[in-house]
Amino acid sequence: MNHQTATTITDNWEAVRAACLEVLPAHIIAFIENNRDMEHSEGQLIAALHMVQAHFGYLAQDTMHAVAQLAQIPLAKVTGVATFYHYFRLQPRGKHMISVCLGTACYVKGADKVAQRLMDELGIHFGETTRDGLFSLDSTRCLGTCGLAPVAMVDNQVYGPLTPTDVSVILAKYVKKEKGTAE
Ligand code: FES
Repeated sequence: MNHQTATTITDNWEAVRAACLEVLPAHIIAFIENNRDMEHSEGQLIAALHMVQAHFGYLAQDTMHAVAQLAQIPLAKVTGVATFYHYFRLQPRGKHMISVCLGTACYVKGADKVAQRLMDELGIHFGETTRDGLFSLDSTRCLGTCGLAPVAMVDNQVYGPLTPTDVSVILAKYVKKEKGTAE
């Protein structure tokens, strides 16, 4: 979708809608349109963004732009909500999803240090994906394995108890597997 074009045709509703249909599925457009004439609560916007993320896996810039156009609200408000809430992803998920538990049991045993080491080694923050698309990083609250605290989960595999130095070993394992050199 050409953002500049969409911006300049805001007064031409049919053209705006047609442009948005190229970006968003019909059921999300219908949801936004059904709520557009009501008071624009943040809750409705959040619900719409959840639908977009459920459909695409993340909130791309062009999809947020389409939501703003359809809801007739400023793009800055949409991006503000998307960046404020931790559960919205602004980038596609990486091949491997890493979730660090920051629940109480893990936190008191040093989960913050494990999380910091992951961010340092990967060069990303929570909610981001590495440039090579290999890893995405998120935090979570209690994985139900408090006895192994502090823990992190990579895809469906739980690791714990972890120390910051374990992080390098675990990441190297996945990198090695990716290169097809795992034993
Ligand atoms: S608090 Fe981390 S697994 Fe329960």
